[in-house]
Amino acid sequence: MKIELAENYGFCFGVKRAIKIAEDNKNSSTYGPLIHNSKEINRLEKDFKVGLTEDYKTFKAGDKAIVRTHGIQKNELEDLKKDGIDVIDATCPYVTKPQQICQEMSENGYDVVIFGDEAHPEIKGVKSYATYGARVVTTVFELEGMKFKDKIALVAQTTRKVEEYMEIANYLIPRHKEVRVFNTICNATFENQEAVKQISKKADVMIVIGGKNSSNTKQLFSISHDNCPDSYHIEDEKDIDYSWFKNKNFCGISAGASTPDWIIQNVVNFIENGVK
Ligand code: F3S
Repeated sequence: MKIELAENYGFCFGVKRAIKIAEDNKNSSTYGPLIHNSKEINRLEKDFKVGLTEDYKTFKAGDKAIVRTHGIQKNELEDLKKDGIDVIDATCPYVTKPQQICQEMSENGYDVVIFGDEAHPEIKGVKSYATYGARVVTTVFELEGMKFKDKIALVAQTTRKVEEYMEIANYLIPRHKEVRVFNTICNATFENQEAVKQISKKADVMIVIGGKNSSNTKQLFSISHDNCPDSYHIEDEKDIDYSWFKNKNFCGISAGASTPDWIIQNVVNFIENGVK
């Protein structure tokens, strides 16, 4: 069986940057998981003494607090700074951008609409920057019946599908006087998505590697599954069942933006060793 990696996969710029920041700040703690990959978080804890704190109120003056890649809520950041905590910001610049847009647009009289998952930490953070509030939607149906001012600003969660974002924009534009659409979907996501689309069209079995709670891995899996029904979302090689590869000729591999290379390599080796 031929095994091939997608043209783009795995760690993105923002995650590489956050991990470097964590490695450079030994004996610190991240507020919330730095990235959505528990195995990499364990490695940082073991090798660099970078811990994980779920409640930011437990930080004490002088502690080093690393802000995770997905960002945190504005008031939490302000509280941390006020309490004398040494804040090290590892928020991805592509997440800081929609935060800034939300604040600026909200303060300039625009109704802010965010296309994304309201429960996701990134969106909780982004929404908190809209000074006068924001509406968060995942489908056009949720927009039906909502009342807006004449001016709307639209931003998207960084990991969303472009096609679905266009549906939201296409719904709003003909119905309102002014709709400012900001492309806040991150290129890394787009490149990984395009690459998984291409390879899953050729593959007869697809392996998508990433945390089970990683939004962008789930998106990659969904695209893969649309093209290749024998697609599997795994966290590491331990999740693999060799029966998946029976009578298969071409195995494609992709990985989410927070999946480290060492896990991807373990998976490739495991498949190679078990399937001839
Ligand atoms: Fe940032 Fe994009 Fe990665 S938003 S964390 S570079 S997927």
